[in-house]
Amino acid sequence: MNQNPDSEKGRKPGFGLILHLHPRKVKESTLRFNLTFGLGGMAALLVVIQVFTGLLLKFHYEPSPENAYNSILNLQESLLFGQMLRNMHHWSSIVLLWVVLLHMLRVAFTGAYRKPRHASWIFGLALLLLVVLSNFTGYLLPWDQLSYWAVTISTNLLAYVPLIGNSIMEALLGGKEVGQATLTNFFNLHTGVIPLLMVVLMAYHFWRIRKAGGVIVAEKDKDGPMVDTRPYLLNREFVVAMALLAFLVILSSLFDAPLRERANPSFSPNPAKAPWYFMGLQELLIHFHPFFAIVVFPVTVLAAACWLPYIKLEDRNQGIWFLSDKGVKSAKVALASGFVLTVLFIGLSELLPDPELLLSSVPSLVTTGLIPFAILAGALYFFLKQIQRKFSLNRSEIIQSVIIVMIVSYTVLTLTGIFFRGEGMNLMWPWKV
Ligand code: HEM
Ligand code: HEM
Repeated sequence: MNQNPDSEKGRKPGFGLILHLHPRKVKESTLRFNLTFGLGGMAALLVVIQVFTGLLLKFHYEPSPENAYNSILNLQESLLFGQMLRNMHHWSSIVLLWVVLLHMLRVAFTGAYRKPRHASWIFGLALLLLVVLSNFTGYLLPWDQLSYWAVTISTNLLAYVPLIGNSIMEALLGGKEVGQATLTNFFNLHTGVIPLLMVVLMAYHFWRIRKAGGVIVAEKDKDGPMVDTRPYLLNREFVVAMALLAFLVILSSLFDAPLRERANPSFSPNPAKAPWYFMGLQELLIHFHPFFAIVVFPVTVLAAACWLPYIKLEDRNQGIWFLSDKGVKSAKVALASGFVLTVLFIGLSELLPDPELLLSSVPSLVTTGLIPFAILAGALYFFLKQIQRKFSLNRSEIIQSVIIVMIVSYTVLTLTGIFFRGEGMNLMWPWKV
């Protein structure tokens, strides 16, 4: 008698682990390329690559201000495939952040954040924070001028958080400025606490997706045919994984991870910029009171993201990208308006007189915080009312428009900070450097 239940069901033994992650059969419609793009799976694979390359890097890396920089130089120059290993870890961390952001957008646009997937969404947000934190804590480890000053600038932003900001900053830095204690803290967070939390949350994330009956399907495909996970889904996942690996290997062979001169705490580069993913915040800081740039904007966006699954909708785009042609049109209008308005805002705030000087008797929290924030919120409300009237949009289409405006605005702010800010963070044309 055959004792192996796997072979009894006609499955080859050895696929047990994979079939723990997947059900035995999936809806044929979920194999369509436009529903997930394999982005969630790619994110998972990238985390595995990070853990694997990170563990190998750890053999060579010394987390002390005296030795960290040299250990990286040594790794790159003397260890066989050392440079390649570092490049893989570096590029995968950036690709991971992009993939997670695109995965989140896919989920948001196909309405997959609503019940019964609300927990996947909320815990997904926590995963996004962890991905940003692992990128940020890793940034300091090479201990060069770029990493030292980027971390100094970014952690100093915490000081603007009222009441608890200073304490959080000092706990993270292990003192008043970036030094040995900071490197120890960042190293332990980066190679221990954060990966552990990530693995736990990812396991929960996957379990919730299985509990919700797999990825979302459109109403019209609800009763569609089922196909075997193996080979139909696994083959596709294999192709996506191989393509991603090939892309990373090519990228890492062509471009080396940056390494500037050794960190010099007494010489600050001008301009000193935060890591690219925080550049949008640093740009906001130029236009707004720090309390608004560092606390009000991010907390409002995070609170709105947590609230999203619970907003009542009359009609929703379950498993499809747009409900109607007017939804597509309004999305294009939102994209163009977000771009034009943000560029206009940056230009005007450069040309108009500084409100802080103009109304010197009024506290700056009001002149560069409350007033511009209220104007922006009013402008967004007015804009949404206009497009709602013009295209007679329903609620889920309005939500899509808000998401588009916010993403485009943050992208423009980020690109401005990276490419259009020079010495003293003044505006400049990148080709005139
Ligand atoms: C999602 C997970 C991870 C992300 C996003 C990430 C990201 C990063 C980044 C951005 C750097 C700086 C690389 C550079 O540009 O030079 C870095 C460095 C480093 N990471 Fe990770 N990492 C992750 C997981 C891990 C794990 C699990 C370990 C070890 C257990 C690890 C060990 C290291 C070491 C030793 C360095 C210093 C070497 C270097 O900078 O090249 N990382 N990491
Ligand atoms: C390390 C980060 C992440 C990993 C490894 C991951 C992994 C996955 C995987 C494998 C899936 C199923 C396949 C797919 O949709 O592509 C999935 C679905 C999902 N993820 Fe993520 N995810 C991550 C981050 C996020 C984030 C940041 C969010 C949102 C804030 C999110 C929300 C969701 C939701 C709501 C689903 C269910 C989608 C559906 O049913 O169509 N995830 N995730």
